[in-house]
Amino acid sequence: MQILHTVEELRRWSRSLRCTAESPIGLVPTMGALHNGHASLIRSAAQRCPGRVAVSIFVNPTQFGPNEDFARYPRTFAADCEIAERAGATVIFAPSVEEMYPPGASTFIDVEGLSERLDGKSRPGHFRGVATVVAKLFIAAEPDLAFFGQKDAAQVAVLRRMVTDLRLATNLVICPIVREPDGLALSSRNVYLSPEERRQALVLSSAIRRVEEAVAGGERVSSNLIEAARKIFAGEPQVRVDYVELVDWDTLLPVNSAVPGTLFAVAAWVGNTRLIDNTIIR
Ligand code: PAJ
Repeated sequence: MQILHTVEELRRWSRSLRCTAESPIGLVPTMGALHNGHASLIRSAAQRCPGRVAVSIFVNPTQFGPNEDFARYPRTFAADCEIAERAGATVIFAPSVEEMYPPGASTFIDVEGLSERLDGKSRPGHFRGVATVVAKLFIAAEPDLAFFGQKDAAQVAVLRRMVTDLRLATNLVICPIVREPDGLALSSRNVYLSPEERRQALVLSSAIRRVEEAVAGGERVSSNLIEAARKIFAGEPQVRVDYVELVDWDTLLPVNSAVPGTLFAVAAWVGNTRLIDNTIIR
């Protein structure tokens, strides 16, 4: 498995493969600190794009707010390379900040409206940073397929809008949420949790499960589903809820009732760690 550091190297890799157009070229964007959720994306990519999978590892400064965890975000490059290789990565793209943001960089992608909803509401500028870096990665790697997790459902909505608006040639493949056996969604930020917080964090997946059960039982009314989830959160008063919302997955705007494809999403602070989880109504 090769490790590339510059946009030029990544572009050369992709273009050399494009000459022999056998199978699609796949890209899996990550910020490293890889876990089984990331590995599942890489495995899907390896299946769809055998021998043509680039995994990017870049802790993107522009998607972190001034009081967020950019400096202390876990950086585990050697372990990441092993996980990526075992999952089927062909190359790793690990650029420096200067490579992705040349000195004086002042070009950004702003997906208006969507970027201010759900996580964008409490993390101003976050989705601008995400859209910008993903656009740069797409322009550099020119992937046919790019793999993202449903775990970050609002991110998916923002990136889908960007791909449509810019008429990009990349198709997004959305992969299911990978969870711990007890339900907690895997996240690079779970390492921040103390043992007590790790226990409290289960309230997110419990709330999601509660809503899935209610929907299975025939409940469709948004306010009732939100109330059912909030009741679960109330059982863990140390956890501070950011949002509990039922929204249209394309617009991220609230809906009055759940239909197949509707997104039920939650975010909450467990200690100093902000966690998210969601489910798509079947
Ligand atoms: P990061 O948090 O590293 O996540 C990289 C990808 O892994 C995202 O598409 C995310 O949804 C997916 N992922 C994370 N946890 C998952 C889980 N438990 N199950 C399935 N997939 C999971 O998301 C980002 O990085 C960044 O915003 C990025 C897109 C790389 C832009 O910087």
